[in-house]
Amino acid sequence: MHRILAGILGLFFMIQSTIAIEEPTTGGAPTPQLSASISLKMTCRAKGQELELCKNAVQEWEKKTGNTVEIIPLPQSSSESYALTQQLLSTQSSDVDVFQADVTWSSFLHVHVVPLNRYFSKTELSEHFPATIKNNIIGNDLVAIPWYTDVDLLFYRKDLLEKYGERPPTSWEELARIAQKIQDAEHAAGNERLLGYVFRGKSYEGLTCHVVEWIDAFGGEIINPNATENTGAREAFTFCSKLLSTISPVGILTYTEEEVRGVFQLGDAVFAHNWPYMWALVHSEGSPVIGKVGIMVLPKGGESGKPTSVLGGWGLCVSKYSKNQAAAIDLVRWLTRAEEQQKRAIQSSYCPTIMALYKDPDVLAKNPFFEEVFQALQTVVLRPAAYLGRFYPQVSTIISNLAQDVLLKKIPPQEAVERLSKEIAIFQKRALKKEEIKVESAE
Ligand code: GLC
Repeated sequence: MHRILAGILGLFFMIQSTIAIEEPTTGGAPTPQLSASISLKMTCRAKGQELELCKNAVQEWEKKTGNTVEIIPLPQSSSESYALTQQLLSTQSSDVDVFQADVTWSSFLHVHVVPLNRYFSKTELSEHFPATIKNNIIGNDLVAIPWYTDVDLLFYRKDLLEKYGERPPTSWEELARIAQKIQDAEHAAGNERLLGYVFRGKSYEGLTCHVVEWIDAFGGEIINPNATENTGAREAFTFCSKLLSTISPVGILTYTEEEVRGVFQLGDAVFAHNWPYMWALVHSEGSPVIGKVGIMVLPKGGESGKPTSVLGGWGLCVSKYSKNQAAAIDLVRWLTRAEEQQKRAIQSSYCPTIMALYKDPDVLAKNPFFEEVFQALQTVVLRPAAYLGRFYPQVSTIISNLAQDVLLKKIPPQEAVERLSKEIAIFQKRALKKEEIKVESAE
């Protein structure tokens, strides 16, 4: 298996090493020339405070340029957002100019978007975490400019842990023990709504992220054709199979980000596994948990495990079918610039992709946990999007469906690992063939 993985990794790095970010040129692509009163359309996510932040920043751009922008809200779930984006771009319609895009969509976006390395300078791009730029490069093209990055973190109730003489968990097994102990004791004392551990259990991209994290935390591999060898993945699925009706409710199978946040913010969960944006909201005026929340990097799994978190985040890209590419590029530059990322971090805890902002005193004052984010960013695990290319969304659905079957104990952990290997191998072969063609044509 290692040889196969090494081959795939080699191929991946070979593709990456052919990339040279150019200084802005206009070669072959439309020249950015701005004229007055252009009407653009862009998609924007509607999760948490995102839509409001997007609207405010867009309005400033409208004032500055005299142009107008119609915002099309994306569904809350990344999977549904992908379906909508795919629908819009696949018809090659010029209707939408700018798209908000998840980090896993790069391969799909490639044929539909303007290569932004032609318009953003090396200096501008070097301000971002290299991993966030690298993620958005396919062949020789930068498909999107990073807007914010995400790493899953563990939110916990400091007050409850203190009350029961516990410290923040260092492993998933310890988390389960503490969650059960506090949940049982609180239920016995009449606080029956309290849940031990909440996470994104709906079958969608949010659950796939957890699966990748749990497997990596237990020392397993999401891509490993040899299921018998993948002990970490089996241990991770074993951990999952014990969650429902113990420390997590069966209703968790419908939870996305906002349900996790809602339950925790109401004071009804000991631990919540979610993205950093939740910090600002659980500390918003009137929140019952203000002053009671601790935050940490996700714990490790088992003896040989490691703390790890999946790399998430979103960027902005410009449709190559847009009739107003110059204005669209200008809008993307405006929205992703340092001042805007700083504002989003201060108001709503969106983690900047611009590295310098992790030293900004105003950003840190509002987000003292950004040190944890920085730390988590050093050990992130990637979803297999780069390996699976445009097949990734299909595989992601298979992974999250499989995880629900494990959570519901419909299939035993070892069978889940075997099915995971089999399904991934099928799509990987197809993706690999495609990547080989891409490497040839890039040279
Ligand atoms: C967050 C992440 C994104 C991920 C999604 C899953 O929005 O930024 O990368 O795909 O959650 O729900």
